Amino acid sequence: MSTLIKGGTVITAIDTTDADVHVEGSIVTGIAAPGSHDWEAAADTVIDATGKYVVPGSLDVHTHMELPFGGTVASDNFESGSRAAAWGGTTTMVDFAVQVKGESMMEGFENWMAKASGNCAIDYGFHMIAGDINQDTLAEMDKLMEAGVTSFKLFMAYPGVLYSDDGEILRAMQKAADIGAMIMMHAENGIAIDVLREQAIERGETDPVYHGLTRPSITEGEATHRAIALAELVGVPLYIVHMSAKEALAEVTMARDRGLPVYGETCPQYLFLSAEEHLAAPGFEGAKYVCSTPIRPRAEGHQDALWNGLITNDLQVVSTDHCPFCMEDHPTLGTQKQLGVGDFTKIPNGLPGVEDRFQLMYHGGVAQGRFNVNRWIEVCCTAPAKLFGLYPKKGTIAVGSDADIVIFDPDARWTKSVDEHHMDVDYSCYEGMEVQGRVETVMLRGDVIIDGDEYLGTKGDGRYLPRAAAGPRP
Ligand code: URP
Ligand code: ZN
Ligand code: ZN
Repeated sequence: MSTLIKGGTVITAIDTTDADVHVEGSIVTGIAAPGSHDWEAAADTVIDATGKYVVPGSLDVHTHMELPFGGTVASDNFESGSRAAAWGGTTTMVDFAVQVKGESMMEGFENWMAKASGNCAIDYGFHMIAGDINQDTLAEMDKLMEAGVTSFKLFMAYPGVLYSDDGEILRAMQKAADIGAMIMMHAENGIAIDVLREQAIERGETDPVYHGLTRPSITEGEATHRAIALAELVGVPLYIVHMSAKEALAEVTMARDRGLPVYGETCPQYLFLSAEEHLAAPGFEGAKYVCSTPIRPRAEGHQDALWNGLITNDLQVVSTDHCPFCMEDHPTLGTQKQLGVGDFTKIPNGLPGVEDRFQLMYHGGVAQGRFNVNRWIEVCCTAPAKLFGLYPKKGTIAVGSDADIVIFDPDARWTKSVDEHHMDVDYSCYEGMEVQGRVETVMLRGDVIIDGDEYLGTKGDGRYLPRAAAGPRP
């Protein structure tokens, strides 16, 4: 089965070239000047991409399909969430398998493999959330590496649940350094935050806006500083997830300036939404935007700093932290965000975004003139593939790469709404927002799975991706 994508502009993290792309089976087999090769006569399928961008399928390296959280479960399962990802131009996701207290890491990994396998519409891998660090579970990290799980997330937040203390973090970092793994850090000072939350509730401050006010940016900056110090001590690469605070970004920037292998990720919610407008929305509306780290006040300059961090490469990756919960009751999962009516500490943390990210980043990054198309591809496709051991199979268009390809209309203008999205959640964080740029066609390993407004894939198209360790510093 061969496909020719002709007449488009091929964009990678490096180049912007008018070229034809030839696909044989699941692999890109040729990229050449338009019309220079006689591929058309023999092609089984010809896609005319004239006037369109031909870009790599994007990678979302931070998702939480069907994550249990705060007495409920994220409303997108692997089937619905991965299909929504495909609609948004994402062809690979790296989700988080969870090891809870009292469980082995392998049990956690196997549980998440069972949830995903046969259900995922796009290719998928796993990071491991290390929720119970002790001698036995540390020893298992070797086995996880062999299974292609080469990154481990630790939590400085959520005491009593997923939290690790500094000693546990140090031990996990030492082990990761020994075996060539990446440490991912949820960097918030959870112990201090818990005190602030308790005091707020005692004062009767129960609305969603207090979720943000009790997680001030200084607690993110402090934890980021501490995580970097511990990683430097041990000599392990460190990736700070879902960064929202300018203080945290300053710590990552300083570390990188000193030559440390420290990386930073942010998410669209921190680039487009604000505490003033969204978290502080009247009534219980703000619950839609409760996530951790929190969405921050625009007036404090976090958003501008994060956009700037993407421009300067102090931040390398934009992922979603997709972890949706419904505002009204979910048909099968029941009450979700409303668990926190009258007590913001009980609102499940997380929001939807897996379908939004790639297009939003074109809109905010390229169409609004902050960076060029190559940087858009770098932060959404190439850098995540490199950092998480999937490059060059994923994250670029090159001879020999998987034919995960998106045909993108850079001029399309449309309005985002819950009525048009495919995520299994009853609101959009970007309701009514007018955006430029739209995914038109999505190919997964040579098969067209999205064609305009038609989904052509079948359940379980996605394959498990055992990942290599991150290569030399990207
Ligand atoms: O609010 C969030 N981020 N929910 C998902 C869990 C996490 O901390 O990433
Ligand atoms: Zn987190
Ligand atoms: Zn997360």
